[in-house]
Amino acid sequence: MKIKQNTCLGVFDSGVGGLTILSSLKSMLPQEQFIYVSDDANAPYGKKSKEEISERCFQIVDFLISRGCKLVVVACNTATTNAIDALRTRYDIPFIGIEPAIKPAALNSKTKVIGVLATRGTLSSRLFAQTSNTFTQNVNVIEQIGDGLVEAIEKGELMNSKLVDLLNSYIKPMLGQNLDILVLGCTHYTFLIPLLQIILPKNIQIIDSADAVAKQTFRVLKKEKLLSSKNLDKTVKYFSSSTKSTLSNFISEKIKVVNF
Ligand code: DGL
Repeated sequence: MKIKQNTCLGVFDSGVGGLTILSSLKSMLPQEQFIYVSDDANAPYGKKSKEEISERCFQIVDFLISRGCKLVVVACNTATTNAIDALRTRYDIPFIGIEPAIKPAALNSKTKVIGVLATRGTLSSRLFAQTSNTFTQNVNVIEQIGDGLVEAIEKGELMNSKLVDLLNSYIKPMLGQNLDILVLGCTHYTFLIPLLQIILPKNIQIIDSADAVAKQTFRVLKKEKLLSSKNLDKTVKYFSSSTKSTLSNFISEKIKVVNF
């Protein structure tokens, strides 16, 4: 199949988390056109099985391909770590995935202790275990499941006392173990950075993978000769699987509801 160069990029997540990736993509690829899909009728993905997550991804990618997407960014750690291999086997277009940034964290940690906050689905995946075994051999990795955080973020309430208590219950046990880097292994958690900066001691660095994903997307588009050569319409098209989309807590643009 010949992939067309002057068409859109698809970006999807279980909800609003992928908006943090979309923002980096738009800055790094200003000439490109984007479609964003939020599967918020089926969020969170973090507690679903690998098979359920893969099935959701297939439905969404079928939709994105039907809209002409030349490449898809899986803007969700949980979907990437559970379904990226199946997606690459099933479809001809390129996929960019996102994984917790434990490799750069392990390389840059001075104390050789790093924390990873991610969903249950990501931390229990084979891909995460493989990456962790390969790149964090001499590093103590403190894994923490962030149950409930995605649900709270989807509501758009990013600073209330319930969320502070929940986040503290995950972060406090990590402190005292001498970590110097906290990896945000879920795209939703980028919205928690302002709160984390209050909770965390100043010597702990927070890292996520948003810019790395945007750079990798640029590299792949260039290599595949798929960078757009025309001035395409820059309006992002937003789609959701829910009639009461939580996307509206974060964006003012029109959201189309689709039954993926
Ligand atoms: N943004 C998704 C991720 O990066 C959230 C997962 C979920 O829906 O639980 O993992």
